Amino acid sequence: MLNAPYLEGIDPFAAAVRSITEPDPVHAALRAAGPIVQVDAPAGGRAWIVTDNALAREVLLDLRISKDPAFAPPGWDRHTAGLEQTAAEQPSLTTLDGPEHAELRRAHAPLLNPQRIRGRSDRIHAIARKLLTELAADRSEIDLMADFTTRYPLTVLLDLLGIPLEHVDQAADACRRMLSDQPGAQSGAIAELSELAASGLGDNGRGLAAELRDRVPEHTTQEQLQYHLFALIFAGQLTADAALGTLMAHALADRPHQPLADQGSIDELVRETLGQHPPTPFTLWRFTTTGIELAGTRLPSRAPVLVDIQGINTDPARSPGPDLAFGAGPHFCIGAQLAQLELRVVTAVLRTDFPKARLAIPFAELQQATSGGLQGSRLTALPVMLHG
Ligand code: HEM
Repeated sequence: MLNAPYLEGIDPFAAAVRSITEPDPVHAALRAAGPIVQVDAPAGGRAWIVTDNALAREVLLDLRISKDPAFAPPGWDRHTAGLEQTAAEQPSLTTLDGPEHAELRRAHAPLLNPQRIRGRSDRIHAIARKLLTELAADRSEIDLMADFTTRYPLTVLLDLLGIPLEHVDQAADACRRMLSDQPGAQSGAIAELSELAASGLGDNGRGLAAELRDRVPEHTTQEQLQYHLFALIFAGQLTADAALGTLMAHALADRPHQPLADQGSIDELVRETLGQHPPTPFTLWRFTTTGIELAGTRLPSRAPVLVDIQGINTDPARSPGPDLAFGAGPHFCIGAQLAQLELRVVTAVLRTDFPKARLAIPFAELQQATSGGLQGSRLTALPVMLHG
């Protein structure tokens, strides 16, 4: 059995700023090196990145590869690696595997299923319309990244969970602090978001937070429940925020060619944008629980493994079929229906309510930045004139 090729001098985890039109060259380099490639991991030692679609789908189903940070390499610093606590310390959808994960998934799933989410469509339309209309009334040029892309998905999420909307600004601020590298900033932000989530759990709670409280396994503590809610808020905000920027930039750049509100073309734009510019370029970390063989190569026990979502989605040789923007297997994004609806709704509202909206600078001058690690790129600014 061979070792996977080691790609020296390529850092897939580096911070970078580039034009929206410029692809990240790292993904093509990884793909060219093989279906599974070793690179230097940000927290030390090697990491294994899967670049092949079929192999990725196997890995995402492989019970020997765990999400639990308890299996991270012994020398890894949790903060440098951006890891959650272990599943024993903090059980969550993103740290549990197997039956315990399935049990927690069953508690969440009906809350975010297609039917439930479709039922929120009018409400989400109203939120998008209100936020954009207020911004347009305030001034002629607006930076959507500063004033909309964080606020909109957070408003949708808090509304859905039954958390009073007066907390949106506080939640936005805490979500920003989640990405800070200042000592203690992240744990403070987690505590604040978890606390905020509790306001949806009172006796009068009518949103999905209260429904989740009634569905989680009996042994779940209040603190664990609040962490589950924090995870929904943070995962749902971070990803949708970045995706909204890229989507709205493309929607406005293509403006003269668009039909007014044709649902087929909106669905296609959302699918294409998420596929080609996935806000999560990699999956979260997984770790081998024992030495294993993958695609004829050897991985030691506790090897950190990632799937290169962006590289696989943009592979010109990928066979037709669903992309990996929302992952695959038991950890497939639980918010996928909600995220897609948020994105479709905003595109429709732009077309129907703001038919003259346009970018305030040329498309190619838009910059996307990543702060490194597993973080995806987010536009640094998206200046638009909503009334043309
Ligand atoms: C465009 C927006 C979104 C994208 C691209 C996205 C992408 C992903 C991906 C790729 C995964 C799998 C990660 C892995 O296997 O390591 C995932 C999982 C997850 N996502 Fe999303 N997501 C989005 C929106 C949302 C929203 C709106 C929510 C909350 C309502 C959400 C909550 C979650 C949660 C809780 C998980 C963990 C599921 C599990 O491990 O069982 N996501 N997401």
